[in-house]
Amino acid sequence: MSIQASENRGQWGSKFGFIMAAAGSAVGLGNIWRFPYITGQNGGGAFVFVYILCVLLVGLPLLYNETALGRLTGKNTVGAFKDTGANKFWQITAGFLALSVSFFVLSYYGVIAGWTIGYIISEFTDFIKDFETFRSNALYVIPFFALFMVITVYIVQAGVSGGIEKASKILMPILFILIVLVIFRSITLPGAMEGVKYYLTPDFSKINGNTILAALGQAFFSLSIGWGIMITYGSYLPKSNNIISSGLWVGSMDTLVALLGGLMIFPAVFAFGKDPAGGTTLVFQVLPEIFNAMPAGGNIVGALFFLLLCIAALTSSISMIEVPASYLIDEKKWSRKKAAWIIGILAFLIGIPSALSGGASRFFTDMSINFFGSSKTGFLDIMDALFGTLFIVIVCLMTALYVGWVLKPQKVSEEIGLGSPFYHKKLVFGISPSQMWIFFIKFICPIVILLVLLATIGVIKADV
Ligand code: ALA
Repeated sequence: MSIQASENRGQWGSKFGFIMAAAGSAVGLGNIWRFPYITGQNGGGAFVFVYILCVLLVGLPLLYNETALGRLTGKNTVGAFKDTGANKFWQITAGFLALSVSFFVLSYYGVIAGWTIGYIISEFTDFIKDFETFRSNALYVIPFFALFMVITVYIVQAGVSGGIEKASKILMPILFILIVLVIFRSITLPGAMEGVKYYLTPDFSKINGNTILAALGQAFFSLSIGWGIMITYGSYLPKSNNIISSGLWVGSMDTLVALLGGLMIFPAVFAFGKDPAGGTTLVFQVLPEIFNAMPAGGNIVGALFFLLLCIAALTSSISMIEVPASYLIDEKKWSRKKAAWIIGILAFLIGIPSALSGGASRFFTDMSINFFGSSKTGFLDIMDALFGTLFIVIVCLMTALYVGWVLKPQKVSEEIGLGSPFYHKKLVFGISPSQMWIFFIKFICPIVILLVLLATIGVIKADV
């Protein structure tokens, strides 16, 4: 590796720093914007139940897999496959597809993060009268989107431990405290208990193939797997770091924040008489009302909350740029600065149709596709269905198949176990965690994902 390339690559400064950066990538709009709206569209409590199963059975093993694959090779998401001997087919379907997930999701993720900047300002100036009018005005959404992208690029080009790690370590804990505060206001609103019930009581008649695909896609979206992110972040991880415990921290923090995100939104949704199935705009319609309903200081809490939501989005968006950037740094020998700026600018340009799809352009707002039987309307929602759900799931399937059946999982398993005293010990029923992981990556992960995909495209029937 050239000196410039190794300087460009960087390494995490501490275990806490890695956990915060990886959790910073995982915790984002996915937890607070996406999880509640998808839960609302898929019937509430039952979805939450399926979601947790997806995280435990498929998400966590894949999180370990990606982190270890990254550390084993010390490479970006395409290089990691190439280095382990993958042919072009796997490089494209697992490596490049993951890279394109990160890049294309970033293009609309930045738009939504831009909305949060608008709301920070509006808590003091009240310039947003209602969400629909706000997001249909290109003169608001485009500059906020651009501002968010500039901040993202600025942090990424500052490097791994100086930029990404430093920012995440301070901001993640503050976000957590604020979420708890907002939950307290939300569940004490009159009529809030209906929402708590809706959120926590499963109605299993609402589950079908589409619901399970949504839960699986959401688990991958939220855990930042299937994007090449954890491979890339894993490649900056020193060998001394215990992947098992770090992964557990990241997975449980991410799931906890998502569950708390729902607890923050649904009581208020019912208290204010909104439709829980309201879709992508749900959170932005409900949150400002919670802050208005605070007896005092609502605008300060509101501004602080949107600020932190924006920052949570930032610690995720930097990881999305990092995926293609590390590819260009490793494989094409670009400087970090050049890679970050060019990717940021391109993602911004590609994100413009998403920014205009909230009403500013009829063409991008009204376009619609049939997504396995449910219709997705608007450019942003279409991108979210394709890149934020379908392609993520496909990448996870291909990665599991590659490691489980082509590469042979023992190599990756050894990497997972480095520094863990009990990984090879027979713990329950004479089975060791390493044997369990291999069983999951070879069988459970690919079979579950494959069944869900088949159920979604209607090849098998999954109504219960
Ligand atoms: N995992 C990130 C999120 O949940 C992308 O927003």
